[in-house]
Amino acid sequence: MFQLKSTTTANLKSLKTACLILPIFEDAALTAAIKPIDSASGGMIKALLKSKDFTGASGKTHLLSSNPTSSIQRIILLGCGKREDFSMKTLKLAVAKSTKALTTTKATQATLLTTDLKLSGKDKEHAYRIISQTVTMQLYKFNQFKTKPDKSTTIKRFELLETKVNTGKKGEKKPMQQGEAIGNGANLTRTLGNLPANICHPSYLAQEARKLAKSNPKMSCKVISENELKKMGAGAFVAVSQGSDQAGKMIILEYKNAKRKTDAPYAIVGKGITFDTGGISLKNPPKMDEMKYDMCGAATVLGVMHAISTLNLPINIVAAIAAAENMPSARATRPGDIVTTLSGKTVEILNTDAEGRLVLCDTLTYIQKYKPAAIIDMATLTGACIVALGHHASGIMGNDDDLVQELLDAGTTAEDRAWQLPLWEEYREQLDSEFADIGNIGSPGAGTVTAACFLSEFVGDYPWAHIDIAGTAWRSGGQGKAASGRPVPLLTQYLISKSESA
Ligand code: BES
Ligand code: MN
Ligand code: ZN
Repeated sequence: MFQLKSTTTANLKSLKTACLILPIFEDAALTAAIKPIDSASGGMIKALLKSKDFTGASGKTHLLSSNPTSSIQRIILLGCGKREDFSMKTLKLAVAKSTKALTTTKATQATLLTTDLKLSGKDKEHAYRIISQTVTMQLYKFNQFKTKPDKSTTIKRFELLETKVNTGKKGEKKPMQQGEAIGNGANLTRTLGNLPANICHPSYLAQEARKLAKSNPKMSCKVISENELKKMGAGAFVAVSQGSDQAGKMIILEYKNAKRKTDAPYAIVGKGITFDTGGISLKNPPKMDEMKYDMCGAATVLGVMHAISTLNLPINIVAAIAAAENMPSARATRPGDIVTTLSGKTVEILNTDAEGRLVLCDTLTYIQKYKPAAIIDMATLTGACIVALGHHASGIMGNDDDLVQELLDAGTTAEDRAWQLPLWEEYREQLDSEFADIGNIGSPGAGTVTAACFLSEFVGDYPWAHIDIAGTAWRSGGQGKAASGRPVPLLTQYLISKSESA
C-alpha cells in the first residue's frame, strides 16, 4: 500500500493526486515545497493561514475539498506545531489526525509531502516507518458485528513524496514495509482482542495460530490439549481451565528462519485467558465485559508472528500461548487448593482470580525445552499495573538487565513505551505460603512486582523479561473502548533489532 516517490519542486504544481497532505508548521513561512502548490491553488493556503482559521498547531488538520488545483482533488493541511518542537511524537499525532480527516473523504489514494519533515538519514527512515505504521493502524475498523458497518475507509494507496531525492537507492522501501507489517500485526492483535469471548475462546486462538502457520512454510504449529497438559503434570494450568467447558490449550508456534539454523530461538509467551471471571474468587460485575481482553498477551504473540512472517525476518522464534477460560463451576478450583506445577513446585491457590500467573508458570517451564536465547512473556496480569503506570506505559521486570534495557529501548523507538519496575529479592517473601512452596498471591503492596516474582520462579536460569500490559493493551470506558494492538510495535522492534545484530 505504501510507496516512496520523488519529484522536483518545479513539477509539484502539476502533481496528480486524489488528496495531498501537506505538513504545515506553526508561525512559519511557506516552504519552497509548499509555495508552488499554494500558487497553483490561487493562494488558498496563504489566505487560510492569514485568516488564522488554521495555524499549523500540533494535531489540527484542515481539509480543502473540491479541487484546490486542476490536478489535486483535495488538500489536507496537517498541523505539525512549532518547528523547534517537532518530534516523532508530534509526527505520529499529526499523521493519525490527517488519516482521520482522510477517512471523511472518498479518496482512494493519498500523497503525503515528506520534504518538510526536517529529518535526515536514519531519522527520516524512521519517520517513514512511523508514518506507515500509524496510517495502517488508523485505517483499522472493527465492524463485523454491526449490521450496517461503517465503510468510510476507502484508501488503497498511500504515497510518501520527497522532492529531489533519489528513491532508487536500495533498502529504502524497507522502513515502509516494516511500518506496514507492524501495523497489520497490531491490527490482527486488536481484532482478536476485540472479539467477544463467546467467539474467541481457546480453540479459536488455536485455529488462528494454525492459520498463521499454514501461511508460511517456515512456521509450524503444535497444540497441546488440556488432557495432555494434565498428563504432562501442568497442574497449575489445568487448575485454571478445569472450571470451564472450553478446553484449555497450550499453543506452540515455531518460526525457523535464522541464517544459522542452530541459533537458539527467542521465546515469546502470551497470557491467553479468553475470559476472566475471577473463578470462585469472582470479580465484581462493573466492567467485567472488559475481561474478554485478558487474552491480549496471546493476541500480541499472534500479531508479532504475523509481522515477522510478513517481513521474513532472519531469526528463530518459538512462541507459546497459554489459552484458557477462567470460570466458576462445580469443577472449578477453590481458594486454598494446592496444585503441583509442571516444574514440580507446589502452589497454594489463595485467590482464583490470580490465574494468569498459573497458566503462565507452566508455559514458562515448558518453553525451556527449546533452550531459548531469551524468554519474554506478555500478560494483562495485574490491575495494580494500571494503578502504577496508568494507560501510557507497559510495566517491565526481568532477571537480566541487558534484556530489560533492550526492550525499553525498542519501546522508545517504536513509540510503544514501557517502564521498569524493581524485581528485588525483598519482594519474594510476600509470596510465602503456610502450606505449599509458594502462594499465588502476595501480601498487600506492589501487586505487579509480586506477580512477576511468582513468574521468575519458573524461568530457570534463562534471561527472562515480563511485560505487564494490563494498562496498555486496551482503551477502557465509554466510546473509546477497544484493543490497542500494544505491545506489538515494541516486541516486533526488539526482534527486528535482534535479527539485524545476529
Ligand atoms: N486479568 C486480571 C488483571 C487485570 C485487571 C487486567 C483489571 C486488566 C484490568 C488478573 O487476572 C487479575 O485478576 N489479577 C488480580 C490479582 C490479584 C487477585 C492478586 C488483580 O489485579 O486484582
Ligand atoms: Mn484474574
Ligand atoms: Zn486475568
